[in-house]
Amino acid sequence: MRTRLTWAITVLSVVLLAPVAGAVTEVEVQADIDTFQGYFKKRFPNVALADYADGVNALPAYSERRANWELLMEFPPFDPEMDKARKEWSKPFANGKGLADCDLAPANTYPVYDSGSDDLRTLAGDINVCLKANGEKPIKNVKHGKMARLIAAYREQFNGQAMAVDVSHPGARRWYEEGRQFYWAKRGQLNFSCANCHVHNAGKKVRGDVLSAGLGHGVGFPVFRTKWAVAGKPWGTVHRRYGGCNKQVRANPFKAQGREYKALEMYEAVMNTGVPLKVPSQRQ
Ligand code: HEC
Repeated sequence: MRTRLTWAITVLSVVLLAPVAGAVTEVEVQADIDTFQGYFKKRFPNVALADYADGVNALPAYSERRANWELLMEFPPFDPEMDKARKEWSKPFANGKGLADCDLAPANTYPVYDSGSDDLRTLAGDINVCLKANGEKPIKNVKHGKMARLIAAYREQFNGQAMAVDVSHPGARRWYEEGRQFYWAKRGQLNFSCANCHVHNAGKKVRGDVLSAGLGHGVGFPVFRTKWAVAGKPWGTVHRRYGGCNKQVRANPFKAQGREYKALEMYEAVMNTGVPLKVPSQRQ
């Protein structure tokens, strides 16, 4: 009886305490950042930390196409869309307030851990919370269209500011760890992890594409993509892109703004510590 009770208590405490005991320390997170960024520094010595904001355009293997991209950037195809985005951003709510009155965190600090709910706040989530609180309809599609434009209009105000996500709370680090696991776990019929493509094979060509470095992922989002524009939905949030990358390895994509992608966003955002925002971006 006693042993059974002891056993039950042990199991219970392992189950209950495991997440707390398992949370990585801040020192460990910093070591992860140093290893991740150090890897790319060694691999691409001529690419500065800030350049990773340009995604694949920053890598040497892309140099032949870079000239095209620079030319395109003289009259960026997203300009008219950005005008629209800024107008949508400043359109007042029915109650006279507006998005500028929302309680948003600085764009370079998302995702933000909320200890009350043990949840991660993303910018898309916060925009919807604010719309609702003001009697406006939340935006259903959080992958493209209006939500992407609003995110672009807000984030561009923080361009040049270095990514700085707060991981001082153990709860934030549990989310971080969940995202780290997701990033390095193999999945799909092709059995690839994010790291297989964006760390180990970054800068290499696959089927006409060059693989971007995982470093910098997300700081340029939302992006305006030629490929997506052809299909009529040029904008994509970073969760839209995650879904696309999951599908590429024939894995089922997860829900945008769901738990898995929020954790993934946390991991990538932390790895980007120090990389400046550059929003919006154009991608192929
Ligand atoms: C089979 C290889 C492959 C895998 C695995 C893969 N991706 Fe990608 N990913 C690509 C390609 C190709 C692109 C488009 C070119 C580029 O920017 O790298 C891309 C683009 C991206 C971008 C856009 C970068 C930018 O600045 O435009 C992000 C973010 C991204 N991937 C994240 C992920 C994450 C997170 C995972 C794991 C869930 C993942 N990818 C898994 C191939 C892959």
